[in-house]
Amino acid sequence: MLELEIFDLKLETEWIGRNFLLLEETESTNSFILSDKNDFPNGTVVFAENQTAGRGRLNRTWVSAPEQNLTFSVLLTEISPLMPDLHLVNFAASIAVANSISNLYQLPTDLKWPNDVLVRNRKISGILVESVSSGSQVRKLALGIGVNVNQTIFNGDYLIQPTSVKNELRESASREKFLAELLNNLEQGLLELAADKQAVIDEWKSKCSALHDKITIKIDSKEYDGILDDIDEHGFLILRTPDEEIKKFTFGDIQVRG
Ligand code: BTN
Repeated sequence: MLELEIFDLKLETEWIGRNFLLLEETESTNSFILSDKNDFPNGTVVFAENQTAGRGRLNRTWVSAPEQNLTFSVLLTEISPLMPDLHLVNFAASIAVANSISNLYQLPTDLKWPNDVLVRNRKISGILVESVSSGSQVRKLALGIGVNVNQTIFNGDYLIQPTSVKNELRESASREKFLAELLNNLEQGLLELAADKQAVIDEWKSKCSALHDKITIKIDSKEYDGILDDIDEHGFLILRTPDEEIKKFTFGDIQVRG
C-alpha cells in the first residue's frame, strides 16, 4: 500500500492533494471522483491501488497491475481560469509527468500528441480528462493519470508498447516520491496554464520529437498522412498533407513514419 507519510513529506503543493483519498480498489478513479455521490473540494486526489475498470482515451481500457503503479485522478472545480481551452489541461499534465521523470530519474522523455508520455518510444504514462457539465457549463473535471512505475511485465495487445520506470532504470522506484513530485509539478503547470496558455503549448512542443516529422493520424478506420506542422493555440494538431492542404485535428492517434 502507498505509504502516506513518505508522500506527505515530499508534497509541496498548496491545493492539489491536500485532500487525499487512498482506495484499495475502485472501478475507475475518474468515475469515483466525478460521481454525484461525492462532493470533494478543488484539488482532491483519489488514488487507487487497483482499478477494476480503468479507462483510457477513445473508449480503450487502462490496465495496471495492482499496487505497482500510479493510477489516480485530480478533481478540478475551479475551471474558469482554464476556459475556454479546458483540454489544454492534458498538455500541462503530460509536461508535469515528463518533468517528474527527468527530474527524478534522468530518463529521456518524449511527448506524443495529445497526451502520452513516452520513454525510448514506449508508453510510460497516459492521461484521461473527463468532465461533468450542467448545460454548457463545465462543473467539474477529472484529470486522470496513469503512470507505470514498478510493473515489469505487460501482457496484452497495446497500440504502443508499454514500459515502466523500473524497466528503464532496472531498479524499483518510490511511488510515493514520484507521486509527490508529479503533483508538485502539476500544480505549477496548472498555474502557468491559467496565466499563459501559449507558454504551456510552447513547452509541450519543445518536448515533442515528432514536430515537423512525417506522421499518419488515425481516426477510427481512416488514416491521414502528412507533416506534423504545428500545434495551434487551442492544442489542436495541424497536419500539412502532401498536396499542401492544412487539416486540423482535435483527436486521434498519431504514428510517426520513418
Ligand atoms: C490513455 O492513455 O488512454 C489514458 C489512460 C488514463 C488512465 C488513468 S488511470 C487513472 C484514471 N482513471 C481511469 O479510469 N483512467 C485514468
